[in-house]
Amino acid sequence: MRIGLIGAGAVAGFHATAAEVLDGTALTAVCDLDEAAARRAAALAPGAAVFTDHRAMLDSGLVDGVIVNTPHALHLPMALDAADRGLHVLVEKPMATTVADCETMLAGCADAGVSLAIGHIQHFFPDKVAAHDLVASGGLGRVVMVRDHRSTDYRPGTRPDWFFSPEVSGGGALMNIGGHCLDRTLWFGGGRAVEISASTAHRFGSAVETDGVISLRLDSGVGASIAVVSDPPTRVDRLAVVGERGVLEAGPRTGVAVQVDGRRRVVREPEEGDIQRAFTAQLADFLAVADGAEPSVPLAHARHVVELVVESYRSAAGGAARRVPERSPVGSSPR
Ligand SMILES: NC(=O)c1ccc[n+]([C@@H]2O[C@H](COP(=O)([O-])OP(=O)(O)OC[C@H]3O[C@@H](n4cnc5c(N)ncnc54)[C@H](O)[C@@H]3O)[C@@H](O)[C@H]2O)c1
Repeated sequence: MRIGLIGAGAVAGFHATAAEVLDGTALTAVCDLDEAAARRAAALAPGAAVFTDHRAMLDSGLVDGVIVNTPHALHLPMALDAADRGLHVLVEKPMATTVADCETMLAGCADAGVSLAIGHIQHFFPDKVAAHDLVASGGLGRVVMVRDHRSTDYRPGTRPDWFFSPEVSGGGALMNIGGHCLDRTLWFGGGRAVEISASTAHRFGSAVETDGVISLRLDSGVGASIAVVSDPPTRVDRLAVVGERGVLEAGPRTGVAVQVDGRRRVVREPEEGDIQRAFTAQLADFLAVADGAEPSVPLAHARHVVELVVESYRSAAGGAARRVPERSPVGSSPR
């Protein structure tokens, strides 16, 4: 598959390298409004063309599939532009900024007959894969609770301006980092959320939330809690999964360990190159989807993540817990 990358920001290098190292793919084009950024990413793939208008790239005949790696509100229109031209689409997380936009993306890609996958990278991180394998093999017994805690930085000036525009980003710390937490919490918790309660903080004069906490009840019976905190004294990325027989902790810098009956066991140490491994595995999954496989991250799951971020904002604004409505399965939504 000849891949075109739209958006050459923070993780462009990982996407570009994945396309270059994977058998069966090549990065043939990069587009960014910022031509210098596009050139930097394109330099990772000798011969890759550079564009500053994504439609010109899509019409160039140089790409068979695209990675949409742009500000959140652009995910939908760019995915549809690609689908309209018969190109497969891998969209960075979050899928979109509203559930309605997720539905429009699903319908547009289905109607065009192109493959769609959402880049929920957590499912491909080697530490999370090792942790999930252990849970799936019954190593902790039945999962009863998940606790996820991550730091971030939403002080204005610490990241590009669009992250602070509610219209473009769809939200702050919870839409961005909280989306990763919701993704992996649901994955490890083995269900969809039926109830959600959240609080948010808007510090530093920010128009989007800088911090947030979410409490969830899943239909699997699992209770979960998520906290995303800006600029704390210690950087944190720590997922804890509580099973009837033991507790697992996973983090990209700390590795994976389990504690069963007072005994600690290291399951996996962090390794150099883990982030790139995750992006390469994610692209390999996208290739398989284009060949007809089901995506490792179900599209209904990606839509549910967006739904829960939006519900967390409603809960925070209303000061009360909310029931999460049932949704029709992906593919059966009325047009
Ligand atoms: N998977 C992960 O771990 C991970 C990490 C960081 C960001 N992300 C996601 O990646 C996406 C991009 O975030 P980022 O941090 O790279 O942002 P960024 O601001 O660093 O990069 C976005 C790029 O898109 C470009 N752009 C904006 N509008 C464009 C347009 N109309 N046409 C072409 N290019 C355009 C900008 O010039 C910029 O270079 C977001 O969805 C974000 O949530 C994922």
